[in-house]
Amino acid sequence: MKVLGIETSCDETAAAVVEDGARILSSTVSSQVEIHARYGGVVPEVASRQHLLAILPVIRQALDLAGVGLEGVDGVAVTRGPGLAGSLLVGVNAAKAIAFARALPLTGVNHLEAHIYANWLAGETPAFPLLCLIVSGGHSDLVLMRDHGQYVLLGRTRDDAAGEAFDKAARILGLGYPGGPAIDRAARQGRPSVPLPRAWLKGSDDFSFSGIKTALVRLAQAGGITSAIDAAASFQEAVVEMLVTKTIAAARAHRVRQIILAGGVAANSALRRRMAAEAPVPLLIPPPDLCTDNAAMVAAAGCFHFAAGKRDGLDLDVVPGLKLA
Ligand code: KG4
Ligand code: ZN
Repeated sequence: MKVLGIETSCDETAAAVVEDGARILSSTVSSQVEIHARYGGVVPEVASRQHLLAILPVIRQALDLAGVGLEGVDGVAVTRGPGLAGSLLVGVNAAKAIAFARALPLTGVNHLEAHIYANWLAGETPAFPLLCLIVSGGHSDLVLMRDHGQYVLLGRTRDDAAGEAFDKAARILGLGYPGGPAIDRAARQGRPSVPLPRAWLKGSDDFSFSGIKTALVRLAQAGGITSAIDAAASFQEAVVEMLVTKTIAAARAHRVRQIILAGGVAANSALRRRMAAEAPVPLLIPPPDLCTDNAAMVAAAGCFHFAAGKRDGLDLDVVPGLKLA
């Protein structure tokens, strides 16, 4: 089954064709990052306008690269939330128009579920029960999956998401936008010599990243940061240590057979390295370009919806605050 996936939840306009939930025939991403960089963050009104400009060329390119026309597609999957309302509407309406015009089955996908299903595109089939650490710009969740489509939320961030913390830390250190990749690059040259606190929240699978951010702000204000690269390395080490330690503890407690990572922060080189070194069960991490926002992951999740008989009607609507579990 070939599924056309469409993703417009934030600042990437993306389309992809995926076969049988596992094989990428094409994946096109048009990023708005340079447009938003001058504002230091995503401006929702600007994002939705850019999606409008990009959506049709991006879909056409994905179909061309896959070597299929719309007549070669068996279903359409689109992100319906969580995300920016105006941005989500562009993708959902494009998907509905295509589904209506071609009488194709349509399914709305949760963006976080899509991030999880990027792992089915990484060449191996994840084994249930599994533990997924979702770390993106808006989420830091530990999710237990006993089977397809079954999500038990074990823990989540109580304040900032991991990606949000990376972005704020980069701003404090003057390393630019988007912050995650900037910290990742800077940390490679630095030494983790700046003492920063860790929040363990003992007895809970929740995370907290606001304390470390505040510590970094205080240090910067007191003139205590003499090297931005050392501070970046220290910040990254602290965040990665919290993510890895808590993920491994939850994996042991729930006796899972597999750990998988998902979301933009899963592209972080230090997180990938340390999780691989310490995971007590087999670990799967999608390649970095499938960790950040893309539509192949949406198509993959959509394939599993269709396999389970799930369909949406043309009344499909966006849900900006959509929850996973
Ligand atoms: O999943 P994603 O592309 O979009 C959301 O759904 O939020 O995640 C974006 C987040 C941003 O906060 C970005 O700074 C972070 O992922 N990120 C990284 C890296 N690449 C992207 N964080 C740390 N290291 C990276 N290499
Ligand atoms: Zn995302």
